[in-house]
Amino acid sequence: MSDRPYTIIASEVSVDGKLTLHRGASSKELMTLMDLEAYKYLHQIRAKVDAIMVGCETVRTDNPSLTVRYVEGKNPVRVIPCGSGRIPLDANVFSKDAETWILTTPKMPEETKRAIEEKGHKVFVFEGDRLDFKEIWRFLREKGIRSILVEGGSTVNWQLVKNNLVDEIRLIHLPVVVGGEDVPTLVGGEGFGSLSRLLHLRLRSHFTRGRQLITEWEVVKDKRS
Ligand SMILES: NC(=O)c1ccc[n+]([C@@H]2O[C@H](COP(=O)([O-])OP(=O)(O)OC[C@H]3O[C@@H](n4cnc5c(N)ncnc54)[C@H](OP(=O)(O)O)[C@@H]3O)[C@@H](O)[C@H]2O)c1
Repeated sequence: MSDRPYTIIASEVSVDGKLTLHRGASSKELMTLMDLEAYKYLHQIRAKVDAIMVGCETVRTDNPSLTVRYVEGKNPVRVIPCGSGRIPLDANVFSKDAETWILTTPKMPEETKRAIEEKGHKVFVFEGDRLDFKEIWRFLREKGIRSILVEGGSTVNWQLVKNNLVDEIRLIHLPVVVGGEDVPTLVGGEGFGSLSRLLHLRLRSHFTRGRQLITEWEVVKDKRS
């Protein structure tokens, strides 16, 4: 048995790799361009995994539901890393459609934790200022999560890539260019900065859904230690 969940990053990106229209903007506006067939593709992945993750900033800006709606299927457990504990209690991820696990630090106010638990969801508090993604990936596997879909944003994607926790990347390419220096791209963080450290991928498949090109990439494991 692997000691971590099988991990797929899936994202809608513009042709120039952007996740949204400008920094701080909800990606929901850009997503209005996406065809139903592409939504179905994404929701088919959601229906197959045990858990789904987005970062706390995506909860604050996009307020996603993270449920399966465009195809038949069960909702995965919603997992949100949220170091600050600053998460709106009326967020859509606290709906009754699925269970939600908030992974946080002692910074989360006790009353926020209690309010989330009263809604029937779970809060897991990890020691330290920030979450260690290697540790939380082991924790999720111990909790029975065998597969997880990560839908961004770029900060969380970097945590996964940096810690070598990704098995696949699936991209829904929107046929537009957004531009802008400061606009979040698929992977943020400090970046690898050297050729020897890059994450290498192998193209497994490519096809279209509506006007969107879909590319499915496998991480090449033996390229990095
Ligand atoms: N196109 C798409 O498919 C897509 C998908 C998702 C998001 N987006 C867009 O991406 C943007 C948001 O991306 P983002 O990079 O700003 O944020 P993000 O990755 O969604 O969330 C970052 C937040 O997650 C928490 N977090 C991440 N790593 C952590 C760690 N090691 N320890 C503790 N907490 C950690 C922190 O929350 P705290 O600040 O609470 O500590 C951090 O601020 C939005 O504009 C959204 O619309 C687009």
